[in-house]
Amino acid sequence: MPTSAASPSLGRVLLTGAAGGLGRQLRTRLRGRTTLLRVSDVVAMDPAQEGEEVVQCALEDRAAVLKLLEGMATVVHLGGISTEQPFDDIVQANIIGVYNVYEAARKHGVRRIVFASSNHVTGYYRQDEVIDPTMPVRPDGHYGISKAFGENLSRFYFDRYGIETVCVRIGSSFPEPKDRRMLATWLSFDDLERLVVASLTAPIVGHTIAYGMSDNTTTWWDNTPARHLGYRPQDSSEPFRAAREAAQPVVDVTDPAAIYQAGGFVRMGPFE
Ligand SMILES: NC(=O)c1ccc[n+]([C@@H]2O[C@H](COP(=O)([O-])OP(=O)(O)OC[C@H]3O[C@@H](n4cnc5c(N)ncnc54)[C@H](O)[C@@H]3O)[C@@H](O)[C@H]2O)c1
Repeated sequence: MPTSAASPSLGRVLLTGAAGGLGRQLRTRLRGRTTLLRVSDVVAMDPAQEGEEVVQCALEDRAAVLKLLEGMATVVHLGGISTEQPFDDIVQANIIGVYNVYEAARKHGVRRIVFASSNHVTGYYRQDEVIDPTMPVRPDGHYGISKAFGENLSRFYFDRYGIETVCVRIGSSFPEPKDRRMLATWLSFDDLERLVVASLTAPIVGHTIAYGMSDNTTTWWDNTPARHLGYRPQDSSEPFRAAREAAQPVVDVTDPAAIYQAGGFVRMGPFE
């Protein structure tokens, strides 16, 4: 169930990627907690409900994105390509797209952005390591590189212009963990909501990087450097462990997908 509806208003929030898996979750959960919720995607979305505006536009369309951010106090930026794809596609949506969002934020005086980054920014760390957000990035493909670009871009916009960002390196946010890897990387939808709301409401975040994960027993990530957000996950992958391990009883420890935190992403590409 969505968390408390009694918290203070989140103000005027833009949600990009609103037609996607997580966008649809957050649209429902943020609705009613904002002064205005403007939702956007490149594809068609459900019609606007009370307190909402719906704007269809491509992130690579700079003029449209400039208009999109007008009057917004904060942005939850989920829009973009969310899997490993050819570089030319990733460049448009994730690199030019995120630049357009930050430029529009600068021009309109937006004060804070929650940026949906990814665990694939650090996918080439091993599954027998526990890392934290202060360690160097090790992207596992075009997608991870594009999210690392977004993280660096947002740091620049904080250092130069004071626009605060929380980069959430989302693990695997689905209704349930689908495989053994997701026992470590799972982020429940309720915990996603908690993390996004904490990122929007913490008084000071500066430029913060946090891993988006539930309170899983197995973990590769230490979120201590982001504890000032006040995010406390309340779900865990543990109830799914027996079923996921039964479905995959043997782990091939020579398989790169079992060695690296990226999992199967290490097998994707090249595309030419
Ligand atoms: N779901 C996860 O477990 C997970 C994990 C790590 C990171 N993330 C990140 O969180 C965000 C949301 O993830 P999701 O699972 O909902 O992904 P999704 O693919 O379901 O949604 C992404 C949305 O972005 C839109 N989009 C794509 N290209 C666009 C463009 N050029 N202009 C405007 N909109 C465009 C798509 O139409 C889609 O609705 C993404 O940025 C993704 O990279 C998600």
